[in-house]
Amino acid sequence: MAEAKERVFSGVQPTGNLHLGNYLGAIRNWVNLQHDYDCLYCVVDLHAITVFQEPEALRASTREVAAGLIAAGIDPRHSIIFNQSQVHEHAELAWIFNCVTRIGWLNRMTQFKDKAGKNREKASSGLYVYPNLMAADILAYKATRVPVGEDQKQHLELTRDIAQKFNNDYGVDFFPEVEPLILGEATRVMSLRDGKAKMSKSDPSEYSRITMTDNADAIALKIRKARTDSDPLPESAADLAGRPEAANLVGIYAALTDQTRDAVCAAFAGKGFADFKKALAEVCVEKLAPIGEEMRRLTADPAYVDSILREGAQKAQALAAPILRDVHDIVGFLRP
Ligand code: TYM
Repeated sequence: MAEAKERVFSGVQPTGNLHLGNYLGAIRNWVNLQHDYDCLYCVVDLHAITVFQEPEALRASTREVAAGLIAAGIDPRHSIIFNQSQVHEHAELAWIFNCVTRIGWLNRMTQFKDKAGKNREKASSGLYVYPNLMAADILAYKATRVPVGEDQKQHLELTRDIAQKFNNDYGVDFFPEVEPLILGEATRVMSLRDGKAKMSKSDPSEYSRITMTDNADAIALKIRKARTDSDPLPESAADLAGRPEAANLVGIYAALTDQTRDAVCAAFAGKGFADFKKALAEVCVEKLAPIGEEMRRLTADPAYVDSILREGAQKAQALAAPILRDVHDIVGFLRP
């Protein structure tokens, strides 16, 4: 009998447009993993409401992000694509993990500090326990591989701690060790306006990010306007140190063309950024424009997207339900 494949789980929030950081740091790798692993890819709407979302916008965004995953090449016949709220096991296991995680662990989470900012007292309690829900997402399927961008690394370390503490507290060897997969040359794509800030959905400037639905003109304009310095490209990537904007653009080009940063520097050494940006815009349009077009086609057919999500949720639930039943037994809940 063939050995069971390891399970991959990852998620993305439906809180606005998917951008190049989501694509290069995560989604593109998800596409590549689906042949070697059993994959679950989740649109995490429960996570999204840790910050208030307009209900109609949330529905639209959930469909659009699902469309983005399909358009990028995730095949619903091979991988499970679903939205989190349709599988109640996520929220249920998250509650149990709320009782496992120590407050001190959550206090160390840098993303909560970044997102809550100075207004910590006014942040939702959901935002605070957000990483427990993330751990539940992964462990409800006993997934062992989690492809993410670099910004999720700390959350995955917490997931490992939660699994270990659960196992220790109850004297079981139940939850597996989770391994982050941080892959490629662009694991932390930076803003096009500021090489020290992460490219994000929440940046007020549209020029800070390229989205997966930008058309060719918008992509070219944003790259033309991207901040750089006036030095030419160096011969090796090590010489990009101290040049965050230049390093970011080289990293994006490397990731999009499946080369190393060194190979990109060698190919463009001595050229100025005006030339390099033209080449970058070309590869960006070549890779992203067809995905954007397919996304538009799919979002025009919400019934199709909804059917994929519904089927995905059914398949996901079939995997999570028996694991949750075991968790109930381990914790000491009575069976219905
Ligand atoms: P989210 O929605 O912020 O981002 C989705 C994925 O995109 C990656 N990413 C980036 N990668 C490189 N450069 C960037 N600028 C960039 N911005 C975002 C993220 O690292 C992520 O992989 N908490 C998660 C969603 C989540 C999840 C999970 C992930 C919920 N449950 C379980 C893995 C496993 C989040 O907010 O991702």
